[in-house]
Amino acid sequence: MSQKKLEKILQEGLQSIQKASNEVDLMMVEVRLLGRKSELSALLKGLKDLSPEEKRTLGPAMNAAKQQLTQSLAEKREQLQEADHDWEAERIDVTLPSSIGLNRKKRISGVGHQHPLTTITREIEDIFTSMGFEIADGPEVETEFYNFDALNMPADHPARDMQDTFWLQMKKESEDRFLLRTHTSPVQIRYMQTHTPPLRIIVPGRVFRNEATDTTHEHTFYQFECLMVSDDISVANFKAVGEMFFSRFFGQETTIRLRPSFFPFVEPGFEFDIACTLCHGVGCSACKQVGWIEIGGAGMVHQKVLVAAGYERDRYQGFAWGFGTPRLAMMKYHIPDGRLFQSGDLRFINQF
Ligand code: DAH
Repeated sequence: MSQKKLEKILQEGLQSIQKASNEVDLMMVEVRLLGRKSELSALLKGLKDLSPEEKRTLGPAMNAAKQQLTQSLAEKREQLQEADHDWEAERIDVTLPSSIGLNRKKRISGVGHQHPLTTITREIEDIFTSMGFEIADGPEVETEFYNFDALNMPADHPARDMQDTFWLQMKKESEDRFLLRTHTSPVQIRYMQTHTPPLRIIVPGRVFRNEATDTTHEHTFYQFECLMVSDDISVANFKAVGEMFFSRFFGQETTIRLRPSFFPFVEPGFEFDIACTLCHGVGCSACKQVGWIEIGGAGMVHQKVLVAAGYERDRYQGFAWGFGTPRLAMMKYHIPDGRLFQSGDLRFINQF
């Protein structure tokens, strides 16, 4: 085994490294030069059988050759990687609109839009503020007093069963029992406690019911309450405001109809219908041939409610209603299933 042979392995090795034209080639060259079955490995293995003299000179030379080849391989690999790299593909055009996706071909827009229920709520707010109404707000976690008692629904009142309630478990003993509000009506009380008539408000808000869901019922949904109180507000005012609102909302003359009904916080109480916006009262599939569509509850504010809010009995009169916001959105956009609004399904939401 001579120095010459080692020199030959090294020179030929360096040449084949230079000749490699891609990374796969280079890997084969590496295996041939430094792999377990390579000439160099065989030489290194045979080192132990050599004379001490030979070991002293050839040993370091072999290691140096191995190191040189390893380094040359590394340099070549870097060169090839650099050449293979598609810099063009990585070019970033900072003038393009922003995207949240990294996939350049399928650009995902990062720009969102309003949820249809938000759009509807804003529209409702605009119409009412243009009629001089204020927008009021109240807590979603309510006390039993505001949600029920003050609205003329004491603990044993059967009407409480109509509103299956999510009660909150309290850690400490407290005077009030807390719940998730089942309607926006408690805000009537809160507002009247701090304001003196004349007053007119709407209360758009989220409410909760502990009940099974179907096409028109959600456990969490949106209502808007309307309240107008003054010395001599009558059902005529109520009808006028209702008709004006719905005509503006649907962009067409809309007739309303009141049917006697019962809610503990109003007297008299009404069920509030509007003439079907498609057939105008004639009867079609949208209104199940009835010609009218039920919108919500309403009535003249019960004197007991005005008293609970701190007013003198028989001093004022007012009307109130509570409508489901999704119901109005369903009618305006012709959506058959109200659950779609909160389904989180972007195929639905992105249509708006
Ligand atoms: N709060 C009632 C409910 O959610 C709806 C309602 C009925 C509200 C009559 C009113 C009203 O203001 O006068 O079922």
